[in-house]
Amino acid sequence: MGHANWRESLWARRKDRINSSLWRQRRHIGSVQQPLLKSDGEWLTNFSSNDYLGLAAHPKLAEAMSEASHQWGVGCGASHMVCGHQSPHQQLEQALAEFVGAERVVLFSNGYMANLALGSAFAQRNDLCLHDKLNHASLIDGARLSNAQFKRYAHADLAHARKIIMRNEHERLLLASDGVFSMDGDIAPLIELNELANHHSALLFIDDAHGFGVLGPSGKGSLASVGLAPRDNIVMLGTLGKALGSFGAFIAADEYVIEHLIQCARSYVYTTALPSPVVAASSAALELLKCDHAVLNGHLDKLISLFTQACKLEGLSLLPSITAIQPVMIGDEALAERASEHLKNAGFLVPSIRTPTVPKGQARLRVTLTAAHTECQVKVVVKAIARALSAVGAGFECRA
Ligand SMILES: Cc1ncc(COP(=O)(O)O)c(C=O)c1O
Repeated sequence: MGHANWRESLWARRKDRINSSLWRQRRHIGSVQQPLLKSDGEWLTNFSSNDYLGLAAHPKLAEAMSEASHQWGVGCGASHMVCGHQSPHQQLEQALAEFVGAERVVLFSNGYMANLALGSAFAQRNDLCLHDKLNHASLIDGARLSNAQFKRYAHADLAHARKIIMRNEHERLLLASDGVFSMDGDIAPLIELNELANHHSALLFIDDAHGFGVLGPSGKGSLASVGLAPRDNIVMLGTLGKALGSFGAFIAADEYVIEHLIQCARSYVYTTALPSPVVAASSAALELLKCDHAVLNGHLDKLISLFTQACKLEGLSLLPSITAIQPVMIGDEALAERASEHLKNAGFLVPSIRTPTVPKGQARLRVTLTAAHTECQVKVVVKAIARALSAVGAGFECRA
């Protein structure tokens, strides 16, 4: 016992992954984030980025970053609790709190670490963390870090959630859901979740990584899109590395929730603060949102309608998503990978998403649209997807 060979074991796991068409490879990107991307030396039209508003390469963000690096330096030197919490952090927290209508906001290094904090800092041994089955991996990892019970209800199925709550003995309840589901693109039943949370005096965590910056008035997020705000029992997570084109994340909630995180969240306390130039870029993105959201998002909405209508005409199978995340369902992992490869050869970057990111047998092409795409690029990629699915034998006859 205890003498098995690591190299052999890793080799066997690698072979398993390759044989199941689950081996992944990084692409080497040789250009800025934009619809035309240099990937492994080839120029491809990119439909894989979460840069929904096309801000990642925006000159105003770059300028803000550059100016802040001269004023504040590059590194923050220590964690927020020691001496890393500089004025740009303080200003962005206040601006975000005002923007999303929360009492207070705390910044995190990224969404993954914010979700680890959410799960682990609140729940205790006798509590129940109840999650949507399709929640993001980081939200799930957070719940698993706590000593609480962890259960999942079928996707968006509140009757199932209610049943689990009634059957389960627990002291406190934590309900958690993505606002916009990262691989399906649909929006959680937020009003009903809030009612359920209120009924059981639960904390409701909404991970709005894919809604913040896009949905709701001025891009305030999925909660704002249904008239809710991160107040009372509602806790919201927003990321700054997707629609805001920068990097980092925040949690917005009432004062007592935020102060608890600052005191107790290990992924906050034990890490170096975000570099101030990055924070300054996020502040610049927030200012752009306040001024230009209607224009940027108006164009994105138009592209989403164009894409879904064109897919319908081609007979492609989509999920019921009205957001910028538009999965084209295939099912089989190997076919999805071959379709993505076919698209790459035709000049498009459209990644295949396979298990374990999505349930086995639900492999898909995950198309993401951004405000930087043109109508023409969207029309052309739909035709290319139809041809790719037809060519790889994904049970689809191209109508073109
Ligand atoms: C729903 C969701 N939550 C959290 C995260 C993590 O955010 P970050 O990339 O800032 O770590 C992601 C990232 O992909 C996500 O899709």
